[in-house]
Amino acid sequence: MASTIVLITGANSGIGFATTNVLVKASNAFHVIIASRSVEKAQAAQSEIEATGIKGTLSTIQLDVTDQESIEAAAAKVKEEFGRLDVLMNNAGVGGIGHDMQTGFKLCLETNVVGPAMISEAFRTLLFESKNPYSIYVSSGERTLLRNAAQVFTRPGYEKVRGSGAYQVSKAALNMLVVLEAGEYGPKGLKVFALSPGFVVSNLRGKSEEARTGWGKAGNPEVSGQIVLDIVQGRRDADVGSLIHKDGVYPW
Ligand SMILES: NC(=O)c1ccc[n+]([C@@H]2O[C@H](COP(=O)([O-])OP(=O)(O)OC[C@H]3O[C@@H](n4cnc5c(N)ncnc54)[C@H](OP(=O)(O)O)[C@@H]3O)[C@@H](O)[C@H]2O)c1
Repeated sequence: MASTIVLITGANSGIGFATTNVLVKASNAFHVIIASRSVEKAQAAQSEIEATGIKGTLSTIQLDVTDQESIEAAAAKVKEEFGRLDVLMNNAGVGGIGHDMQTGFKLCLETNVVGPAMISEAFRTLLFESKNPYSIYVSSGERTLLRNAAQVFTRPGYEKVRGSGAYQVSKAALNMLVVLEAGEYGPKGLKVFALSPGFVVSNLRGKSEEARTGWGKAGNPEVSGQIVLDIVQGRRDADVGSLIHKDGVYPW
């Protein structure tokens, strides 16, 4: 059996897919569980990655981060199949674009905050069965309170790019979740990280070519996957409990 069992939520697309690809190409030590709300999308992702040749192994699991029954069933299945989890990557997220304000706020908070909170709660005992457990949350370096507070007054046109604010509010709340988990479980051995993946190609902004590529400005999500590889291979252990990016740490 692989020595490192990794579960990535929303792994059928974007950063989750790219991270899965990076990990299973890097080493035969990794078994990545592709968690997706759609079994079909998870299986398609597994086939696509396997077809390119991998060292590690893959499996799939149904997991809708807004559905408590789905979360508990996934945790029970991982317990039954593996008995532990070494890395939990709370990656699934939504941008909340194209909705009225109330729907956008509810969707962002439910998916980007409540979901990760409930998933971490459900999988924590399995993480503590690991000798070296990691809890990684995909956040956003652009959405910290500090950065936004500074930009409100200094960045020309800031109010135009802000949108409804639902996504920013959700990532700021997620950051608090990370700080609280690090405070409570860090001393017990859980290595907790918030990850700023960079501005990368994905479906977060929409599925048109322009939106996926961030109007030609978005980078390669495999670079975000490489940051996760660095974390789980211990190269970022000095930054544990922080909001990290490719080259360092952001203030909260
Ligand atoms: N791309 C960037 O530039 C960027 C920058 C900063 C932070 N992030 C963060 O990176 C993370 C990954 O997003 P991405 O950019 O890779 O976008 P993406 O391509 O849209 O991937 C998001 C993933 O989350 C899944 N998801 C959404 N709602 C879900 C739910 N209720 N249950 C289970 N899965 C759900 C999606 O599934 P479906 O395919 O079924 O919709 C998809 O697999 C997010 O947390 C996002 O906020 C991205």
